[in-house]
Amino acid sequence: MTPLDLWLSRSIPMCLLLQSLVLMALCFPSASMCPKGCTCVRGEPLFHGLNVTCSQARLKEIPPDLASDTVILRLDHNHIAGVPDRAFHGLRLLRELNLSHNAVETLGESAFSGLEATLQLLDLSHNRISSVHKNAFARLKARVLVDDNPWHCDCALQQALGGMVHNHEAEARVLCRSSELRDHEGQPFLAVDTDLCNLAKRTTDYAMLVTMFGWFAMVISYVVYYVRQNQEDARRHLEYLKSLPSKPKKPDETDDISTVV
Ligand SMILES: *[C@@H]1O[C@H](CO)[C@@H](O)[C@H](O)[C@H]1NC(C)=O
Ligand SMILES: *[C@@H]1O[C@H](CO)[C@@H](O)[C@H](O)[C@H]1NC(C)=O
Repeated sequence: MTPLDLWLSRSIPMCLLLQSLVLMALCFPSASMCPKGCTCVRGEPLFHGLNVTCSQARLKEIPPDLASDTVILRLDHNHIAGVPDRAFHGLRLLRELNLSHNAVETLGESAFSGLEATLQLLDLSHNRISSVHKNAFARLKARVLVDDNPWHCDCALQQALGGMVHNHEAEARVLCRSSELRDHEGQPFLAVDTDLCNLAKRTTDYAMLVTMFGWFAMVISYVVYYVRQNQEDARRHLEYLKSLPSKPKKPDETDDISTVV
């Protein structure tokens, strides 16, 4: 046995071991794709993809390591306080997202961006949502459940709900905890027949009107003051002229003064 043979006979098992380690490392990420506290079931009879259940997992945020072929994602009964922008962006097969019974307070413009084409069901009920960006649900085709949230009924909410073309159910279930107009408080959103966006516009219009009127009044009073002052001067000037020793051109001068006034 040459030293080379000896070296080879020892290194071949080493190589095999190394190879299997590399293979394990390569396989490891897909094995760990199921986030901590969740159960992931693949190959359900109804769809190809992953059914991820993270219910009651004491999650404080949306798991960052979700598999891109997730079809159903259950995050209900956790402590999730917010949905970051593009939180589900990579999940191009997601059909059902259950965020009910969490602590979400508000939703930004792109919270659900990337899900427009696929999402069919979005459950946001039993959260702490009071306001959403006016485009939060724009272009979503999903059925959206939003009941049991402390909604503040304002222009943005009216626009957000109005943007959900396919979903009149959501609007029906929104109860105004507070509102731009006091008499809507405790009312279902559907009972609000005021255009809350025009309300804001009308307020600004009114403020504009008041300001313009203020300016106008100032200008008018200045003109009045100016004319009075000039009249006073003219009168004094006239008296002065009258007091002068008599002159033949007196009527002409009176005319001049009146044109000045
Ligand atoms: C998804 O998985 C959960 C639990 O793992 C199960 O209860 C549920 O029926 C599954 N959903 C579908 C559509 O297969
Ligand atoms: C979301 O999860 C809750 C709690 O498990 C369940 O009651 C509710 O029906 C689910 N929502 C949908 C739309 O399936």
